Amino acid sequence: SNVDLGKCFEIINNLVTEAGRLIARNNETRQDFVCKSGDIDLVTQTDKDVEKLLMDGIRQQFPEHKFIGEEESSGDSGVNKLTDAPTWIIDPVDGTMNFVHAFPHSCISVGLKVNKVTEIGIVYNPILEQRFTARRGQGAYYNGRRIQVSGQKEVGKALVTSEFGTTRDEAKMKVVNENFATMAKHVHGLRVLGSAALNMSMVALGAADANYEFGIHAWDVCAGDLIVREAGGVVIDPSGGEFDIMSRRVLAASSPQLAQEISKLLTQFYPQPRDD
Ligand code: IPD
Repeated sequence: SNVDLGKCFEIINNLVTEAGRLIARNNETRQDFVCKSGDIDLVTQTDKDVEKLLMDGIRQQFPEHKFIGEEESSGDSGVNKLTDAPTWIIDPVDGTMNFVHAFPHSCISVGLKVNKVTEIGIVYNPILEQRFTARRGQGAYYNGRRIQVSGQKEVGKALVTSEFGTTRDEAKMKVVNENFATMAKHVHGLRVLGSAALNMSMVALGAADANYEFGIHAWDVCAGDLIVREAGGVVIDPSGGEFDIMSRRVLAASSPQLAQEISKLLTQFYPQPRDD
């Protein structure tokens, strides 16, 4: 294709720097919010402002590019269909619950897909100034420094991240709690950072060894998927099969062995509706 990925990368890096200032500034105080889908799925004015800043900035440079965005998709129309066109998959604030509470683990998560293949991933926490970037085939970086996964293979030595999620649906909560109980028995340690994208970035950094979650959306994991793989890790479906970005299921790990071990331990859940 004739997409100038170098230019895309430069422009999106500048835009997230600018948009990050909105998050960092507003994280100094607790934020007003509305519940997006009932439950505990929150949205703030900053989510909307960041998404607008990013989308306007991208549109100005690349008017023909498409979008799949978290706040974009909360209307009646649902999630936009993924096509072969260059598509920016954007979560303006991943970790909105953290942001509402001024807990400093929120980030902007942006992935660019061309022909349905992720070419660029950026996860940026502007509060702690943590920037994770990747381009397909060119490695993963943390604040400009090349990063690698830990390579850990053993469940018993693995630090694992997951989330309670944004729904209190009873069937879902039952599986979530069951999996936390199972994991606690087998893994070295269990962490809940409050952001799917940052959880995955910690795997890429080698600071955590795996992350799994049922209920995530495409925009929570598009960038993280590329960043983990470019850091030498694996991203699969929690059942052990191939990762499907629209399935709302993810398992990232520092090695194929660890991914398969964790997959076998997990009680499976298939969130509905899918993202496509
Ligand atoms: C959510 C967060 C949360 C995870 C959810 C995500 P949001 O993203 O990453 O930790 O459990 O699955 O949807 O709503 O804060 O952008």
